[in-house]
Amino acid sequence: MRILVTGGTGVVGRHVVLTALARGHEVVAASRGGGSPDPRATGRRVDLGTGDGLAAALDGVDTVIDCAHVQTTNAAKAVRWFTEATTRLTNAAKAAGVRHLVVLSIVGIDRIPLGYYKGKLAQEKVALEGPVPATVVRATQFHEFAGQMLDRMRLGPVHLMPAMRVQPIAAAEVATALVDLAEGPATGRADDIGGPSEEYLPDLARAVLKKRGGRGLLIPLPIPGAAGRAGRAGAGLVPDPSGQRGPSFADWLAH
Ligand SMILES: NC(=O)c1ccc[n+]([C@@H]2O[C@H](COP(=O)([O-])OP(=O)(O)OC[C@H]3O[C@@H](n4cnc5c(N)ncnc54)[C@H](OP(=O)(O)O)[C@@H]3O)[C@@H](O)[C@H]2O)c1
Repeated sequence: MRILVTGGTGVVGRHVVLTALARGHEVVAASRGGGSPDPRATGRRVDLGTGDGLAAALDGVDTVIDCAHVQTTNAAKAVRWFTEATTRLTNAAKAAGVRHLVVLSIVGIDRIPLGYYKGKLAQEKVALEGPVPATVVRATQFHEFAGQMLDRMRLGPVHLMPAMRVQPIAAAEVATALVDLAEGPATGRADDIGGPSEEYLPDLARAVLKKRGGRGLLIPLPIPGAAGRAGRAGAGLVPDPSGQRGPSFADWLAH
């Protein structure tokens, strides 16, 4: 089948491209940059913020796996971006004859009132109510998330790190789950997935910093208000063992 991966050059999107190729699918990787993580996949320049390049990239596509991300913590901006981008994507996908849309979301977005999470909730709603049969799967933070946060929340030598309970999962495992879902029929909300054990994000970030040979001060940043309380109560975790996928963060980092 021909699969379009939006955000196909991102942390999880590139694993989705590689996994789909390994399963024998024809793959198109869509991003504003237009690159591809593998020469066997076609890279296409697509801007979900404007729709540029979208119709051409969807030509002949059977299934879309949406792994695009917008960098914001502002609720209004996140809701606007995900609503508009997902509406654009579902309408263009319908017009192109796409049969299935698979969307990657985040565990706990309906219980943890963070601005970005409000955007993800809007994205889920548009996808599930849209004109193309859809599957939405929520995953916990990736093993790669600690490194992403180190890069994003740096003030000179100081790294600010949310003091979060996490249950990280390898992005490659999330990619496997997404391709499995893409190969089946649309099922609406799928079961949540997460990693094998609970961790503390600042500890993971320190381990990544050490592995990178980096220096600097890492300061855990408590998340205030209702979002902090919900996170501390475990709203971002996947307690059901059937939703937990290895490897552990320590094994992943070692290899
Ligand atoms: N990171 C986590 O721990 C985590 C956990 C659970 C779920 N998720 C979800 O997984 C998805 C991917 O996250 P990620 O961490 O892999 O993101 P990422 O590494 O930041 O990658 C984002 C991808 O989206 C593309 N993109 C950004 N803006 C775009 C636009 N306007 N039009 C088209 N493509 C665009 C980027 O390429 P260009 O910049 O070249 O456009 C890139 O390929 C997100 O929906 C996120 O909510 C993430």
